[in-house]
Amino acid sequence: MIPQETIAKIFDSADIVDVISDFVNLKKSGSNFKGLSPFSNEKTPSFMVSPAKGIFKDFSSGKGGNVVTFLMEHDQLNYPEALKWLARKYNIEIIEEELSNEQIAANNSREGLYLAQQYANAFFKDQLFNSDEGKSIGLSYFKSRGYLETTIKEFELGYSPLKMDALHSKAIKDGYAIENLEKAGLVKKSEKGWYDFYRGRVIFPIHNITGRIIGFGGRTLRTDKKVAKYFNSPESEIYNKSKVLYGMYQAKNSIIKEDCCFLVEGYTDVISMNKSGIKNVVSSSGTSLTEGQIRLIKRFTNNIIILYDGDAAGINASFRGIDLVLKQGLTVKVIVFPENEDPDSYSNKISTSEFQNFLYENQKDFLTFKAEMLLNKAKKDPVKIAETIKDIVSSIAIIPDPITRSIFIKSTSQTFDIDEQMLIQEVNKKLKKISPSNYSPSVQDNSKSFLPSKAIDKGVKHKLDTQEKDLIRLMLNYGSLSIPLEIKSENGETSEEQYPLAQFIIEEMLTDNLNYNNSTYQNIFNEFVDGLENGLLINDQHFIQNPNLTSLVVDLTTSENTLSENWEKKHQIQTKTEPLRLKQAAIESVFIYKLRVTENLILEKQMQLKEFVNSTESDIKLEEINELMKVRNIFAKELGIIITQ
Ligand code: CTP
Ligand code: MN
Repeated sequence: MIPQETIAKIFDSADIVDVISDFVNLKKSGSNFKGLSPFSNEKTPSFMVSPAKGIFKDFSSGKGGNVVTFLMEHDQLNYPEALKWLARKYNIEIIEEELSNEQIAANNSREGLYLAQQYANAFFKDQLFNSDEGKSIGLSYFKSRGYLETTIKEFELGYSPLKMDALHSKAIKDGYAIENLEKAGLVKKSEKGWYDFYRGRVIFPIHNITGRIIGFGGRTLRTDKKVAKYFNSPESEIYNKSKVLYGMYQAKNSIIKEDCCFLVEGYTDVISMNKSGIKNVVSSSGTSLTEGQIRLIKRFTNNIIILYDGDAAGINASFRGIDLVLKQGLTVKVIVFPENEDPDSYSNKISTSEFQNFLYENQKDFLTFKAEMLLNKAKKDPVKIAETIKDIVSSIAIIPDPITRSIFIKSTSQTFDIDEQMLIQEVNKKLKKISPSNYSPSVQDNSKSFLPSKAIDKGVKHKLDTQEKDLIRLMLNYGSLSIPLEIKSENGETSEEQYPLAQFIIEEMLTDNLNYNNSTYQNIFNEFVDGLENGLLINDQHFIQNPNLTSLVVDLTTSENTLSENWEKKHQIQTKTEPLRLKQAAIESVFIYKLRVTENLILEKQMQLKEFVNSTESDIKLEEINELMKVRNIFAKELGIIITQ
């Protein structure tokens, strides 16, 4: 644990321009600095650093934060690692706080496992490159598959000798803790004594995203079908198979740069793609794809391209993969390989440039892919075609974003020449099944306006995220600026008072007992309330050192405008001379939010009403609904919305 005072000292000493200049060529631009984004390939600079605010914002990738989050993003460090990096740069000594006995035991046990993997891999690598057996069997095998020496080194491939206990006896000789090797599944005990689990196999170490080895895959060199082709490490405190992807450590920077990730089946596919110059590739290595693995990819990109064998098993696996990826809101494309080929075999068959062209030209979006595959099977049978369309409709219904859904609906309607409205209805039916209480319907052609009464008619609750975000954005940007409000005193006289905007929003929220659905927004709001209770009006600077909130706060307090050189001047003019506009914005945000919340309440009660058979209970509910309708109309009037009912 790094003590709080040390963290504060690190933040005080770290100069964000100085630190980021280690990675990005920054040029002064007004009171800010500009440069090319380190997170994407771009030609015109859209990466901005503000030394005054201590923040960076990358407009091409949307990332933003403080000096520590920059290091976390750029070098994939965790929070303490980033702090230690800065401490080294600025010569700040870190004396870590004492840990509890339990923490020490847990750390030791994890650390022991890490060290055992590292110890074993050093041995496997040494054997591969320096022993006669390793060179003549292991290394020549890799070379025969066309692996480059640089790739072998980058992926830290190795060789485990045929001898029963080569690793075990080396560990004994070195005085190395055998129990850690045993726990990691590297050595085992039988009646005949200790033996190496991976003996006689070439070794593919599996890294976590900071580059530490957490497990192994060992491939046999025998062609005997009775021997399992791969042996794999067991799960452990440091290796959770459902959250790990083989090759992610080596691939992550290219995934960020290319904004896309290739997903293949095996260790050898990853290595062969690398050899063909494609680095943004990972593998689920034998286990079927999990949600955790997709979330891992999502940290680096929203675009996945699945590469599968052209056989039936491969296609079925890709169907399952597609739905999983769609569900997490990512875009997914598929490349199918010719019969009996996988990325590894095919990249060895054709030249590197032919292979790259193949990948480029054979990407299909999931809809085209599914339609082609299924229709191929259906031939001209109308019943089978109908099944195909239903299958596609269920995939579309999985996509969380309504706009993306409607685009795919349109495209399906064109592909199959089917009425779009009917497809919309079908998708909406599925949506209700997937999650009965909380869904947003697909965009409908005839829903031109979004008047509040419509929402109630449709029986669909509002998502409040946009409204919640807007309130927080206003508080962060203009919280301490005053707006003129009419205040009624007890004797009925009204007078105009200057009120800080943040205080207005806080009081409006608190008097109606409202809480944000989004817990991060609620946390920011709570900080404002705490501040106010201590007579302080906090602003965006208050959040800059908070690792959990800084990225969001930066996001909400910067805009493309910050790039323009006299943004600050313009900004001041805008906000200082327009308190009336600010007042209007605040009132609008508050009342739209309240209107939406009330409508959701009305909907809930209407749902409950349907379940009552007893008439007195229904009467009470109806009365409540009527009351809420009146409240809603007051808010609506406040907003000047004309209700057409
Ligand atoms: N796999 C496994 N155990 C097996 C077979 C396969 O764990 N007995 C996993 C491995 O992670 C492997 C992946 O499934 O990488 C894909 O299997 P396969 O295509 O058979 O292996 P490749 O890695 O392609 O090996 P090779 O090209 O040498 O046949
Ligand atoms: Mn293979």
